[in-house]
Amino acid sequence: MPAILTGQGSVSSPLSFDIPTTSANKPAMRILVLFAHPRFRQSVVQKAMLAAISGLEQVTVRDLYAEYPSFMIDAAREQEMLLTHDLIVLQHPFYWYSSPAIIKEWLDIALEEGWAYGNGGNKLHGKFLLNAVSTGGPQDAYHSKGRNRFRIAALLAPFDQSAYLCGMGWLQPFVIHSGRKLDPATLSGRAEQYRDLIAGLRDGRLDPLKHLAEGYALPAGFVAARKVREHAS
Ligand SMILES: Cc1cc2nc3c(=O)[nH]c(=O)nc-3n(C[C@H](O)[C@H](O)[C@H](O)COP(=O)(O)O)c2cc1C
Repeated sequence: MPAILTGQGSVSSPLSFDIPTTSANKPAMRILVLFAHPRFRQSVVQKAMLAAISGLEQVTVRDLYAEYPSFMIDAAREQEMLLTHDLIVLQHPFYWYSSPAIIKEWLDIALEEGWAYGNGGNKLHGKFLLNAVSTGGPQDAYHSKGRNRFRIAALLAPFDQSAYLCGMGWLQPFVIHSGRKLDPATLSGRAEQYRDLIAGLRDGRLDPLKHLAEGYALPAGFVAARKVREHAS
């Protein structure tokens, strides 16, 4: 059974749970899902996504709004979590063409100079970042000729470049478009696809290097750093 650690103020919100790795059951990648939804009680789509991955072994899920209701991100704690995982998933609804505010705060505080980037900042080299988002807008709105003028990956450029600066691989964003308008079976099918992606990356059935975002060139040193990590684990 997973050790369940509820975040501060977490009532009906999602949980944090860690399941220790065993050598008999060693994942290809240890996955950390950082979940952020400021109105979780009203959520439909993110709730379905979260339910789909909840209980997956070797996947740690943390609810940032529940953990940090006052936005006081604990850099040391976050860095400790980052060190023990290979793929960081930022799971959130699309808000104002980006993420909810706590994700930005988390980036500002957790990814310190000299740790994540800059002189000596190599702790994330060879790891991966994935945005798993839901939108209100339909897929065809996110196009140069569509209502929202930009593709989702283009709007997520700050995450692309932050991953690059930190020596990480940035994966193709997973997106559920207009999820609240989907019928329950279709929404649940999309959530299952999310689960399959996470479980496949965890097990090594899916090669993260084949799931890099379109046009994303790995930063210098990524491959060497990844080899070192693979040998060390
Ligand atoms: C403050 C706010 C900002 C939003 N910004 C966007 C946006 O920029 N683009 C978009 O497609 N949907 C936007 N939405 C819609 C949400 O992304 C959508 O309702 C959500 O992903 C559905 O997931 P949920 O049921 O888990 O809340 C926004 C919603 C709110 C409340």
